[in-house]
Amino acid sequence: MILGSDVPGATPIDDLSGLRQRHIQTRAELNEAEADNIRAAVIAYLIAQPTERSAPFDVGWFCDLHREMFGKVWDWAGRWRTSQTNVGVAPGAIEVSLHQLEGDLRAWGSSGMPMIEQSVHLHHRAVHIHPFVNGNGRWARMLANIWLRRHGQPIIEWPYTVLGTESAIRNDYLIAVRAGDAGDLGRLLEMHQRYQR
Ligand SMILES: Nc1ncnc2c1ncn2[C@@H]1O[C@H](COP(=O)(O)OP(=O)(O)OP(=O)(O)O)[C@@H](O)[C@H]1O
Ligand SMILES: [Mg+2]
Repeated sequence: MILGSDVPGATPIDDLSGLRQRHIQTRAELNEAEADNIRAAVIAYLIAQPTERSAPFDVGWFCDLHREMFGKVWDWAGRWRTSQTNVGVAPGAIEVSLHQLEGDLRAWGSSGMPMIEQSVHLHHRAVHIHPFVNGNGRWARMLANIWLRRHGQPIIEWPYTVLGTESAIRNDYLIAVRAGDAGDLGRLLEMHQRYQR
């Protein structure tokens, strides 16, 4: 069984072997199960202000966060992918890229870079590395939000009902992420600013 991609830029799901919830038959049921799982992570990290201890932003925790977001649904949650995807670094480069991101994040933090710019860089780098089979976009946006929240900043409230469907906003979002690959983060910054609450 294949759950086709319902929106542009989403991963078609052709391997359901890692699914922990056998009752899931449709894309809508999958979306709902994932959203349910993610809600637990939102409660854990975005309600009370996270600390250095609860959200250390090191490579191990990057994986833990993905597992917290998707582990009730997928058995590969929190594990790096082992095959090449359209987007993303080579599988063998995932670990080193995440270590670089961890180091860069600390450098941005102490450089005086505005927090909103840090969150944009973090979001883009994380989704560009694309460490996991799926869920990279949601994980990267969550990382950026936890980083903002940990520093007492308002988070980005992505219009999920719109972002998760074929829509002008999703289209703008994908264009903005791809512009980031070419070194231009202006559009993504503009979107972060637009939805920051
Ligand atoms: N050219 C690109 N460069 C970097 N990132 C990209 C590119 N094209 C797509 N992406 C990102 O990859 C995401 C899709 O990856 P994936 O399916 O793993 O994440 P997701 O959480 O399931 O999806 P979504 O982000 O759509 O909610 C897109 O949303 C976008 O953020
Ligand atoms: Mg996806």
